[in-house]
Amino acid sequence: MRVLVLNGPNLGRLGRRQPEIYGTTTHDELVALCEEWGRELGLEVEVRQTNHEGALLDWLNAAADERTPVVLNAGAWSHYSYALFDACAQLEAPLVEVHLSDPSQRPEVFRHHSVVSEHAERVIAGHGVRGYRMALGHLAG
Ligand code: DQA
Repeated sequence: MRVLVLNGPNLGRLGRRQPEIYGTTTHDELVALCEEWGRELGLEVEVRQTNHEGALLDWLNAAADERTPVVLNAGAWSHYSYALFDACAQLEAPLVEVHLSDPSQRPEVFRHHSVVSEHAERVIAGHGVRGYRMALGHLAG
């Protein structure tokens, strides 16, 4: 089974970006880990990251057309993008929402709501990069 792992804004700087919150694993290392976990689980995993909201919407629209399961960490867009809400609503295969940190426990109130969650089969937050392993495991069944 093919699975898309889609990462949104600022996640390209993982490892250098506020490591005390997001950890020291870089995005390149996360890609390698997801591919390795995918192989273990019998999944064909493709990881992408973008700082451009339209690119993420295009990928989600294609995933809807192709009925591809998605693991999504939409970063800050998770909290306010209604276009993202609408794109997630169209997905037909399972969607798993992942956050490295646990946004519900963070001091900024804007992080406490996610437009993705209501469309997600599962929300995994606060487990760092291991959360992606959990998401892939969920999709592998
Ligand atoms: C994040 C949490 C979001 O609130 C934040 O804007 C991010 C990363 C996480 O993985 O913990 O960019 O999605």
